[in-house]
Amino acid sequence: MNDTPLNLADLADLARESLPEMAWGYYADGARDQVTLGENPAAWQSLRFRPRMLMEVERRSLMTRVLGRPQPWPLVVAPMAFQGMAHPDGEVATARAAGMSGVPMVCSTLSNRSIEEVCAASREPTWFQLYVYRDRGASKALIQRAEAAGAKALVLTVDCPILGTREGDIRRGFHLPEGLICANLSGTAGEALPPIAKESGLGAYVASLIEPNLGWKDIAWLRGITDLPILLKGVLHAEDARIAAEHRVAGVVVSNHGGRQLDSAISTARALDEIQQATGGSIELHVDGGIRRGGDVLKAMALGAKAVWLGRPVLHGLAWAGGSGVSFALSLLRNELDEAMALAGVTSLADIPADLLAGPWRGAHGGDTVRP
Ligand code: FNR
Ligand code: LAC
Repeated sequence: MNDTPLNLADLADLARESLPEMAWGYYADGARDQVTLGENPAAWQSLRFRPRMLMEVERRSLMTRVLGRPQPWPLVVAPMAFQGMAHPDGEVATARAAGMSGVPMVCSTLSNRSIEEVCAASREPTWFQLYVYRDRGASKALIQRAEAAGAKALVLTVDCPILGTREGDIRRGFHLPEGLICANLSGTAGEALPPIAKESGLGAYVASLIEPNLGWKDIAWLRGITDLPILLKGVLHAEDARIAAEHRVAGVVVSNHGGRQLDSAISTARALDEIQQATGGSIELHVDGGIRRGGDVLKAMALGAKAVWLGRPVLHGLAWAGGSGVSFALSLLRNELDEAMALAGVTSLADIPADLLAGPWRGAHGGDTVRP
C-alpha cells in the first residue's frame, strides 16, 4: 500500500496521527458548535463549473499579481499561531517552503519563531500579521520590528476583538508546551508584553492584552506609523469592504478566521461573492477558509479573488514532514488547480470567463439566480 497522501484530507489524517491531542485540537477546532468551520469547505463544494471545451489547453498560466507583484500561482500561506507545536522548526520551515513555492507567508504576531528568523528563511516576501495590543507603544514597536526584519506587508486582523471560544481548548486546558515561546513578544517589542503563561489559556491572554476597541480611526493611526501596504483580514460584509476601500488599504482578506471566531458567520465563498459584486474591483480581494482542493482555488478566482490563503493544511504538512511536508501540501494544491483549469477550459487565471460558475446562492452574474 502506498501511504503517500493523495490529497489534503489524507494529509490531515497523517498529521492527526503524529500530533499530541492538545496541538491537534487547537489547530483543528472551530468556535462553539463549529457550524462555520463545516460550512467553509461545503460552500466551495456547492459551486459548480460550466466548463468550456475545445479550448486548446496544453499551455496554462497560473501567474497572477498579488499586491502588485507577480506570483507563479495565486496562493498565500495564512498566519497561524504556534507552529512550533507541529515541528521544532515551526514557522521557519513553513516560510522556507512557501518561498520555494514562490508565494508569500504571513507570520503571526503569536509565532514561536521570531519575525527576523521567518523573514530570513524565505526567498519570497514575508508579511506580518498584527494583533494590536492595548499598549499602543508596544504595538508600534512590534510593527517597527517587523519592518526592520524585512516584512513587506502588514496584515491587520480585524475579526478578533476577543477570542472566539473553542470549547475543546477549554476541556483540554490549552497551553503552550514547555520550551515554546512567543518569539516576537520578547526582546525589543516585548518588554511590555508578558508571554502566554502556562495553563493561562489563550482566551484569557487575548482578553487582557489585545485591544477590543479597534475602530476605523486606527487605520489612520497605523498609516501614520508604517508605509507598508495594509491588508484587513477578517472582512465578511460588503459595507466593511467598501469602507476599507475608502480608507485606501491595499486589500481585504475575506475570512472568518477558519471558523474560529463568530460561529455561524457566513461562509467565505458566499461572502466573497457578495463583496465582489458590491465593490466591483475597487479593492483587491483575498479569501481563506476551507480551501482544500485546487478546484476550490479556481472557484475563488472566478468569484473575484486575487489570491487564496491556505491555513490548516499547511500545519498538517508541517506536522507530517516539516518543511518538505509543507512543500508537499502546496504542490498538491497547485497541481489540482492546474488540472481543474485544463478540464474547465481555462488557460489563464487572468482570463476566467464570467459565467464559469453556477451555484445555489450565486447572484445574477453567475447566471443562476435561485436563492434559498
Ligand atoms: C489561525 N488563524 C489566525 N489568523 C490570524 O490572523 N492570526 C493568527 O495568529 C491565527 N492563528 C491561527 C491558528 C490556527 C491553528 C488556525 C487554524 C488559524 C486563522 C488563519 O489565518 C486563517 O484565516 C484560517 O486558518 C483559514 O482557514 P483554513 O484554511 O484553516 O480552513
Ligand atoms: C487563533 C488565534 C491566535 O485562531 O488567531 O487561535
